[in-house]
Amino acid sequence: MTLLRLRDVEVNYGAVRALRGISLSVEPGTVVALLGANGAGKSTIQKAISGLLKPTVGDIEFDGHRLNSLSPREIIRLGIATVPEGRKIFKDLSVSENLRMGAYSRSDRAGIAQDQEMVLDLFPVLKERTKQLGGSLSGGEQQMLTIARGLMARPRMLLLDEPSLGLAPLIIADIFRILKKINADKGMTLLIIEQNVHVALQNADYAYVLQLGRVTVEGTAKELQENREVIASYMGTQAHAAAG
Ligand SMILES: Nc1ncnc2c1ncn2[C@@H]1O[C@H](COP(=O)(O)OP(=O)(O)O)[C@@H](O)[C@H]1O
Ligand SMILES: [Mg+2]
Repeated sequence: MTLLRLRDVEVNYGAVRALRGISLSVEPGTVVALLGANGAGKSTIQKAISGLLKPTVGDIEFDGHRLNSLSPREIIRLGIATVPEGRKIFKDLSVSENLRMGAYSRSDRAGIAQDQEMVLDLFPVLKERTKQLGGSLSGGEQQMLTIARGLMARPRMLLLDEPSLGLAPLIIADIFRILKKINADKGMTLLIIEQNVHVALQNADYAYVLQLGRVTVEGTAKELQENREVIASYMGTQAHAAAG
């Protein structure tokens, strides 16, 4: 059964229609990329799935539940953890405390402790820094902490908004290697919003290209990789550079 499905979703900011009928689906256990230039509507989709913005038209369904009228907290409980744009960690809390915040919707103490061990094994750089304040971490380490924190909710799907933004290529490669491992080892479903076409298509099974609030291209990552020039033209010059 399809895990996440958006059907003809429209979202407005006042008089501005940011999403103009978005339909997409994410199958369980897959990695799906959502590509688009700045302003295409990517974060608006993330916020609609997370329950921070409500569609005026259309449906969002996850695991058979309609999300439209649910609160962000209820959506987390259903199994969607969001890793928002811009590495929004708690700067004045330690790495461990940040991880505990990710488990706030849970009450199984033993399971939480076990998952903290598990995420620290996935991200060894964090394991060496559990007592360090979040604000003292490098950009790459902060991005890893936001992903690790998301995993602490024990989600069925991770929704990541531009995890590569502003990071050096080697750090980006490391983060995507770990994301692929989480997908392969745990069967975790990933919906990854990206402007880095090259990295996203290398790691995804399926991809959607978003332009001005509409899906203009979709296909397997392999198909889209063979049409990189078309994708780049939809993404603008910045994506051209990123597509290398
Ligand atoms: N809070 C807001 N109020 C009004 N317009 C917004 C707001 N947030 C985003 N927008 C507009 O909606 C469109 C999509 O934005 P966004 O989803 O953030 O794009 P992306 O994440 O793809 O860069 C843009 O035109 C943006 O200017
Ligand atoms: Mg965005």
